[in-house]
Formats: sequence, C-alpha cells, structure tokens
Amino acid sequence: MSLLDKIDKNRLPAHIAIIMDGNGRWAKARGLERGEGHKEGVSVIKKVVESASKASVQYLTLYAFSTENWNRPSEEVKGLMDLMVYAISKETADLKKNGVRIRSIGDMHRLPEYTRTALEECIRETAGGTGLTLVLALSYSSKWELTTASRKIAADVAKGVLRVEDIDEETLANYLTTRGLPDPDLLIRTGGEQRISNFLLWQCVYAELYFTDTFWPDFGEETLYEAILEYQRRERRYGKTSEQIDSAQ
Ligand code: IPE
Ligand code: IPE
Ligand code: MG
Repeated sequence: MSLLDKIDKNRLPAHIAIIMDGNGRWAKARGLERGEGHKEGVSVIKKVVESASKASVQYLTLYAFSTENWNRPSEEVKGLMDLMVYAISKETADLKKNGVRIRSIGDMHRLPEYTRTALEECIRETAGGTGLTLVLALSYSSKWELTTASRKIAADVAKGVLRVEDIDEETLANYLTTRGLPDPDLLIRTGGEQRISNFLLWQCVYAELYFTDTFWPDFGEETLYEAILEYQRRERRYGKTSEQIDSAQ
C-alpha cells in the first residue's frame, strides 16, 4: 500500500515548496564528484513532480539555484546551468503532455542566455497546462526579491502611479516574483540542514516547516507523501487558539 492512500484529499497542502539540498554530500558519500550528485538530483525532480501531481497538489516550487550559489566554483555553476538546460529541454514535451505548467521566480537576467532561452521556451510551451504548476526558483533569493520589489514600488510612487498611503500587504505581494501564487503551505528541506537559506521569507510566514535528513537524490514519492502526512498531523492556528480552530470546523 502506498502512503498516497493515507493522505486526506480534503486537507492537502495546495502549495509545497522544497529546498532540494544534499546533492554534494550524497555524491561524496559514494566517492563521486559533486556533479554526479546534481545529475541524480535532477532525475529525482521528474519523480517528485509526478508524485505531487498524483496527490493533486496544485503548486510545487523547487529551489534549484540561489543567489548565493553564484559564489560556488565556476565549473560547478557551469555544470548546473548545463544540466538545467538539458533537463528542461528533454522534459518539456512530457510536462506538456501531463498538463504541468512551468513558471520561474528569480533574477533571470543573471542566467546565461542559453539557460534563459531554454527556460522561456519551456514556459511558453507549457503555458496552457491546467494541472500542477511547477515553479522553478533559479538565481532566486528573498533578499533580492524584496529589494527589487522595494525599488519598483519606490519608482511607481515617484511616477505617481502608486500612493504611499495605498501600500498594503497585498500591494507588496503583487510586486514579488511570486505574484499570483498562493503562499506555500508546506516547506520541505532535504539534506539535514535546518535553515531557510534566503528562500521565500515573505511567502513562508505561515508555512509548516518539515526538515528531513534524506539527501535530495534519495528523496522520492513515498518520502514526499510522508511529509504531506506529517503536514496533515499539524494544527494550523494562525495566531488563534486551538479551541477557536475546533469550533470553526
Ligand atoms: C543542493 O545540493 C543543490 C544546489 C544547491 C544547487 P548541494 O549542492 O547544496 O549539496 P550539499 O549541501 O553540498 O550536500
Ligand atoms: C540552498 O542550498 C539552495 C538550494 C537548494 C538551491 P545550499 O546548499 O546552497 O544552502 P546553504 O548555503 O548550505 O545554506
Ligand atoms: Mg547544500
């Protein structure tokens, strides 16, 4: 029996975000180069996208490359960019067939042209998808996103298209690259570290956090469902009391 059967379909996380960590350590433990870990990690993405679709999750955001990851050795960065282009191009047809719609968040201008072009093509090709929305966070960080949003807001105020007194939480949310996406309900981090690493700070204010020691290349269908089941055991109170939550049900 798959853990999928134990998941309560009425209390699914609509949006799951994952910090896919541990590729390097997975490789090292096997005496392999870090690049081999990244390769294995990319193949897991396909499995996890399929599993999330099967569980009727609507949005899946994957942290694939952070602003800080630009500071890695240049060969590793190049390897990751090549791998992403390869995976995106190879999978576009299947994603389309499965109704998956691709979207990206992050500073796309920093990506090499060939990576950006492959990504844009995949976004265009899959735009009609009505199933899972797969959001790839590439060259993304929350501090970059919030700084960029602040600049745009200031520019619009200066232009006179936005009034300072009209700025509220919704305004800010609309200036973020995640505009239109619901906030993540569940944030998973693989690889054993218990930190956020500059990921979706604004959006994850009320996400349930789930940390697992499993390295990303070992993650998969059942481990994803385990995380969803743990999510369903939590009580989301949003500042209220347990009694208030009970009486509202
Ligand atoms: C995550 O795995 C993938 C990226 C950050 C691109 P890591 O490469 O960080 O793997 P570890 O943390 O060194 O094991
Ligand atoms: C976070 O992983 C970024 C991604 C998974 C893309 P890192 O491995 O870069 O995080 P830190 O630097 O250890 O916090
Ligand atoms: Mg890491």
